Amino acid sequence: MILYNDLFLKKEEVHISHEDRGYYFGDGVYEVFRIYNGQLFEKEKHFQRLQRSCEQIKLKLPSSVQDIDLKLSQLIQKSFVQEGTLYLQITRGVAQRSHLFPKNPIPTLLAYCNEVKRPLDKMKSGIKAITQEDIRWLRCDIKSLNLLPNTLAKQNAVEQNADETIFHRNGIITECSSSNIMIVQDGEILTHPANHLILEGVTRSVVLKIAAEEGFTIREKAFDKETLKNADEVFITGTTVEITPIINIDHHNIANGLPGTVTKKLQQLFEKIVP
Ligand code: PDD
Repeated sequence: MILYNDLFLKKEEVHISHEDRGYYFGDGVYEVFRIYNGQLFEKEKHFQRLQRSCEQIKLKLPSSVQDIDLKLSQLIQKSFVQEGTLYLQITRGVAQRSHLFPKNPIPTLLAYCNEVKRPLDKMKSGIKAITQEDIRWLRCDIKSLNLLPNTLAKQNAVEQNADETIFHRNGIITECSSSNIMIVQDGEILTHPANHLILEGVTRSVVLKIAAEEGFTIREKAFDKETLKNADEVFITGTTVEITPIINIDHHNIANGLPGTVTKKLQQLFEKIVP
């Protein structure tokens, strides 16, 4: 079941115009929500970020957030998904190809649910990562459809027998191809500040909140590649990866090569808020 603008359609019934600006220019924004127990997790945060992304690219939402929220709930019910993800994208709509925005564009909204299991094995065992120069634009805070550098980076990771690519700009760690990154150093949690160089992840916010409530010291401060590799613990956060330990970077173990105690504690705390 696909939500296409106002309509609930079967996959075969959806026809996207070749003139959709999402297709030509990547001119649009998106969100990936987690569905736990048939409900969207932290949906207000996702809607806030969606609204902000739209504002930043001067794209008007096709309808109110309340209306979209209602439609997404209906979509989940119609899709019978209890555990999975919901993908939502909004583009600037259909118009003859021109870099200039069309006059009075009608945005295209597309959403669907996928049944996806939580990555419990990787959350337990940890994963390997590689590092790579961050070649993205300077507005990574916008959840835009332009993900070519991210897809190249993910592909590169898998080709090197790893799961994720950690980006750095001139040696300063920003985030990963599809997740945020945090390290633990002398009991403190460090992560890049939420500025134009990273996407402010919903999971990142949740993790920082539960960590602060537990009494951990959090420093939203940039750190370099050497600090990363010498960290006591490294983990990533994201809607699909939740809190996943990174145990090996660029073919070298982090600490003893096992998920760390702070990471495991945060996973336990996160588990408590999963509905
Ligand atoms: N990606 N940074 C980047 C570049 C991301 O693409 C994502 C999420 C995150 C984590 O954000 P959140 O906690 O809100 O999921 C950080 C989604 C899952 C995706 O593109 O599939």
